[in-house]
Amino acid sequence: MKRHILVTGAAGFIGYHLSNRLLDNGYPVIGIDNLNDYYDVQLKAARLNRLKKYKHFSFLQVDIADHKGLFAAFEKWNPPIVINLAAQAGVRYSIENPYSYVDSNLKGFANILEACRHYPVEHLLYASSSSVYGANRKLPFSTNDPVDHPVSLYAATKKANELMAHTYSHLYHIPVTGLRFFTVYGPWGRPDMAYFTFTKNILEGNKIKVFNHGDMKRDFTYVDDIVEGIVRLIDHPPVKATGSQQDTPNLNRSEHAPYRVYNIGNNKPVHLLDFIKKLELTIGKKAILELLPMQSGDMKETYADISDLQEKIGFSPHTPIDEGLEKFVEWYKNYYRVSG
Ligand SMILES: NC(=O)c1ccc[n+]([C@@H]2O[C@H](COP(=O)([O-])OP(=O)(O)OC[C@H]3O[C@@H](n4cnc5c(N)ncnc54)[C@H](O)[C@@H]3O)[C@@H](O)[C@H]2O)c1
Repeated sequence: MKRHILVTGAAGFIGYHLSNRLLDNGYPVIGIDNLNDYYDVQLKAARLNRLKKYKHFSFLQVDIADHKGLFAAFEKWNPPIVINLAAQAGVRYSIENPYSYVDSNLKGFANILEACRHYPVEHLLYASSSSVYGANRKLPFSTNDPVDHPVSLYAATKKANELMAHTYSHLYHIPVTGLRFFTVYGPWGRPDMAYFTFTKNILEGNKIKVFNHGDMKRDFTYVDDIVEGIVRLIDHPPVKATGSQQDTPNLNRSEHAPYRVYNIGNNKPVHLLDFIKKLELTIGKKAILELLPMQSGDMKETYADISDLQEKIGFSPHTPIDEGLEKFVEWYKNYYRVSG
């Protein structure tokens, strides 16, 4: 029997795909999620129902901000591997609902770290985000660049997670890996994200809101590639940097802690207007654009340098955007029973 893996946010988009893959690979998975209503709860339930078909899947409806509930799960399962994906996601929502981010991303993440301290784990992996690069202009974004200028509270909580994780890794020798995901898309995706709302609105003949008049670029990353990266990293818990590495100003590893941060992105940014054209082609229908100014909290461009990830696990995301969009649109039409 393989080691148990605890996945938080298991009913979420990435958590669902990851849990599915781990179960297929023979890992028993303990899924945690509070099933909040930030977006359609039916979609979360549908993902969960598919996971529940696996004999080795256990589910606990727990809020990671509730430390008693979370500790009870750790007490019961003592998981050697923990993958924390539960978080309040979304950049724009953090403007109107800051406390949701404070509760899930700061308090919740502190509870995850405390749980890993009191119930020692072999490896904690957690979701950070490309948003930590904030106002940086140097492209592609490297994990060796400073990330001290976040432009949304969401990004600030993800950066805070990286600092908190380093501290706990240092103090309690917890091997911790942080993963900066870049605009993840795919089947069973998140209804609040642009590719999802664009698809819905194009199909329904409604306008789509295109911010910064379309002058943006995103390093869209297909969800299976993200999952492959996470799965490969599970058995590579970081070790403290030693020797000559101490003299190089590496910001993504530490001589003080078994801690490491990676970008997981496609390394192929797509201009938003080109992305919309590809989506129109895939759907077979023109979009009606509503061109709008830049939204506060947004970044103009994202582009991941993934050389560290390639070096460590011999893999980097590579699904072409056309192929990924094909799979997403096919899923969307099936799931929402759209004809044509
Ligand atoms: N999808 C992306 O493009 C992207 C990009 C960068 C980073 N991330 C990060 O990856 C992780 C997963 O993202 P996703 O796209 O799957 O989002 P998601 O919202 O689909 O999944 C998150 C899940 O966590 C659950 N959750 C939220 N707060 C919780 C809490 N306090 N306790 C328990 N469960 C809670 C939600 O119910 C949801 O099912 C998040 O940490 C997100 O910030 C995602």
